[in-house]
This record gives sequence, C-alpha cells and structure tokens, in this order.
Amino acid sequence: KKRVFSGIQPSGGLTLGNYLGAIKRFVQMQDEDYETIYCMVDLHAITVWQDPAALRRQTRELAAGFIASGIDPAKSILFNQSQVAEHAQLGWIFNCVARMGWMQRMTQWKDKAGKNSQNASLGLFAYPSLMAADILTYHATHVPVGEDQKQHLELTRDIAIKFNNDYGVDFFPVTEPVIEGAGTRVMSLRDGSKKMSKSDPSDASRINMTDDADTLAKKIRKAKTDPDALPSEAEGLEGRAEARNLVNIYAGLADMSVEAVLRDVGGKAFSEFKPLLAELAVAKLAPISSEMARLMENEAEIDALLHTGADAARAIAAPILEKTYDIIGMVR
Ligand code: TYM
Repeated sequence: KKRVFSGIQPSGGLTLGNYLGAIKRFVQMQDEDYETIYCMVDLHAITVWQDPAALRRQTRELAAGFIASGIDPAKSILFNQSQVAEHAQLGWIFNCVARMGWMQRMTQWKDKAGKNSQNASLGLFAYPSLMAADILTYHATHVPVGEDQKQHLELTRDIAIKFNNDYGVDFFPVTEPVIEGAGTRVMSLRDGSKKMSKSDPSDASRINMTDDADTLAKKIRKAKTDPDALPSEAEGLEGRAEARNLVNIYAGLADMSVEAVLRDVGGKAFSEFKPLLAELAVAKLAPISSEMARLMENEAEIDALLHTGADAARAIAAPILEKTYDIIGMVR
C-alpha cells in the first residue's frame, strides 16, 4: 500500500503558498489510493524561537486549516508531532547516520542561519534529519511538498540509503517526492524572486488563509507587476517573475493549467486581471477561513482530534522504531 506523509510547521499562520503548494495536494491524495498521514511539526517549529502561547494557538489554527481545507480526520491521520515520541527517537538515530557535510549543504540551513550561524540552534542544523525521521518512521513512500522542500527530501533518501547500507538491510524505503502542479512555487507578492513565506516581515508579501476579502483584494491590487499586458502563451512569461507568479496563483486556485489561464486572460492589462484574480481568491479562500474561525471556537474538539490522530500515528510508528532499534543492536 502506498503511504503518504507530509508536515507543516505551526510557526505562523497558513499562507497561500502552504495551501497551493501542499494542502491542496494533501486533500487530493487523501481521496486517491493512498493511506495519508499529515502532521503539524511543532518540534521543527521550535528550531527557531516560538512564544509558547502563540505556538499553541498556531498549532490549533493549523489543524483547523487542514480540516477546513478538506482533510477528513476519518480518512487521514492528523496530529501534532510532539505527541508521537517516535519522531524524536528516530531523529536521534538519524543524527548518527547523517553526516555534518550533508547538513552544511542544505540551502535552507544556510538561508535561515545566515551569517551568524554560530548563534543558530543545534536543532536548526539537525532539522532535515528530524524531517527524515518524520517520513521514515511510517515507511512513507510518497511525500507531497512545495519545491522548497526538494533538497530536504533528497537528504531523506540519502539517510535511508546509508542506513540500509550500513546495517546491510533493506528496511527504510527510498521516498518519492511529489512536487506537482502550478502551486509548487508561490512567490512573494512584493518580490518575484523570493518565495511567499509566513516568516517574511512584510505582511503585504503574502496572502494569509485568514485574510478577509478586503485585505485580499488590496494585497493583490498592490502586488508588484511589470507594465506589459499578459501574454497569451507561457513563453511570454519568461523573465517576468511577478507576472508568472500571479498567473500561477490564478492557475492553482482555479485548478487550470497556465496555458489555459493565458488563453482566457492573454492580452489583458494587470489592471483588468488583478480584480479577476482577487475575485477568484476570495471565492476559493473565504469559505476556508470562515470554517477555520468556526472550528477555532471549539479548542477542546481540536485537541481531542489531534490526540486521537496521535494514537493512530503511534500505532504505525512504534513497531517500525522497535525494529530499527533491533537492527542497530539495542538490547530491548
Ligand atoms: P513549511 O511549514 O515551511 O511549509 C509547509 C508546506 O508548504 C509548502 N510551501 C510552499 N509551497 C509553494 N510555495 C510556497 N511559497 C510555499 N511555502 C511553503 C512547503 O514546501 C511545504 O510542503 N520542512 C517542512 C515541514 C516538514 C515536512 C516533514 C514536510 C517537516 N517534516 C516531512 C514533509 C515531510 C517545512 O518547513 O514546511
């Protein structure tokens, strides 16, 4: 059976990047021929400072976001990472498999640690090794993510392969990244060369799933563009990062290909296209954000769901961890 695992950090609100790059695909895979496991990776979130009250709220809000977007806790396992200790336990083992040099090559580490890497947490450096543990403690075969996680998934494969080689076993699967569709690389609304991110200091750079209709329309109206009209073919987006991004967002929200979008809007000026995009974004996102708000009114229910999800996750992870300990020679 094909098994999907993916995670999102509760380190801020959900963005349109998370939705188009990840959650939308999570929902589709839940209804395809996969067993699906989705996780709020709170242990990853604390690799950089998180205010405890904010972390708690963001974890619940992320859970509400999953459910409001169509993740059905009856079909998918939904939980937060820290409730299943196997992640951290296997993460330690993988810290002993992964090499310092592998970690040092991670572009996300280089970006996030910045020039002052001596002051970054040890956890931030080991981040990809815990991520490999998230995936492999379920023997997951498929991992849907946005483009920015590709390098981490290659490292996950390297860890699985090295473990299997070191111990002469065929135990951990070599995972397939699933990076598909128009939404795998949603860029900042202010700078088409930077990804849309919940950690960008400028709120105008991103669309939050909880933005109201006016805020959404205003952010789209103010989004950076160039002076030219939209092209009618995809080649015409070459070298126009901001234009490409808005067309991609439209395609992702409308479930259309970029080519089909351009057949409809090619030749239009941005002053015409932006209101169409804003209208589409409100139509797709407003129902999700109002459902999120409704779910957030009952925190106890969210907590209970995550608890049940964690039990189901642990039932899969625990035997795989036990077998791992056995392979490496730990007396049980
Ligand atoms: P995170 O929390 O940064 O993002 C969650 C998911 O959203 C995708 N994403 C985007 N996709 C397109 N355009 C964007 N601008 C954009 N921003 C974010 C991400 O690619 C991701 O799929 N390391 C992961 C969390 C993680 C994980 C895992 C993922 C921990 N363990 C195991 C998969 C499997 C992260 O920081 O995602």
